[in-house]
Amino acid sequence: MIPIIIDCDPGQDDAVALLLAFAAPQELEVVGVTTVAGNVALELTAENARKVCELAGRSDVKVFAGCPRPTVRPLRTAEHVHGKTGLDGADLPAPTMKLQDEHAVDFIIATLLGHEDGVTLCPTGPLTNIAVAMVKEPRILPKISGIVLMGGAIGAGSTTPAAEFNIYTDPHAAETVFTAGVKLTMLGLDVTHQALTTPERLAAIRAIGTPVAAAVAGMLEFSGKRNAERFGLAGAPLHDPCVIAYLLAPDLFAGREVHVAIETASELTMGRTVVDWWGSTDRPANATVIDRIDADGFFALLTERLARLEG
Ligand code: RIB
Ligand code: CA
Repeated sequence: MIPIIIDCDPGQDDAVALLLAFAAPQELEVVGVTTVAGNVALELTAENARKVCELAGRSDVKVFAGCPRPTVRPLRTAEHVHGKTGLDGADLPAPTMKLQDEHAVDFIIATLLGHEDGVTLCPTGPLTNIAVAMVKEPRILPKISGIVLMGGAIGAGSTTPAAEFNIYTDPHAAETVFTAGVKLTMLGLDVTHQALTTPERLAAIRAIGTPVAAAVAGMLEFSGKRNAERFGLAGAPLHDPCVIAYLLAPDLFAGREVHVAIETASELTMGRTVVDWWGSTDRPANATVIDRIDADGFFALLTERLARLEG
């Protein structure tokens, strides 16, 4: 049983990552869900996380609101991808479960200091909460078992030619995290663009026939439309659930330990993950960067697990 904190900015793909985690109660203990401004504003990501918990029948999960903006740069949200609510494509009822009073950063610190055997952090949005927790309380660093994050890219960016959305939104936070000396696994666009929500895969999810499956299919159809057209792909890349799938079935993935630096100076390449894939420098590896996925195996895992959620 791996204790994890999912730090997210739901966002349809974050929602599916949460659902996949809730569908793995034998393997993952979701100690808490922390939310951050990213895809949409914090008020919405905090509300959306609770909507998804209730969809999965998990109103017992503690949800916390974190930072309402990046550490240095202004917040730039992505309603054009995720819709006004951030979860367009599924009409989920307003949550009845309460948001926790404690700030997400304080929850992350208290949980890490209080967990004897360490906790794995699973950020699927901008790294603002994680970085602020590290700065506020450096004693948490040895208590982090690992960070498995969705973000960055070896190759082309998405939000800009150079940068992927999560890292671009808060590059300074990303720099803090990538220089913290903590065990990092980075799942970037190179791998998530291999995990495409093709019509056949969406049909298999919809065929599960539960309210959870209907919501997932609706959300992914909505958020996928623009991405599939934009990238000229057979379906939209499914980003955030790759983080949870990596914890459940690491053999579905492959990558290598390399050095990753974050661009925080040049406006042209701001937020780029500069991945030393070919060992061009003597910079020591600070991350395992994943570049391959067994996409069929991933979708088989995702579909099978979603079917377990009655919701
Ligand atoms: O670039 C993809 C990432 O940005 C995903 O986490 C998506 O939810 C958005 O946050
Ligand atoms: Ca996200």
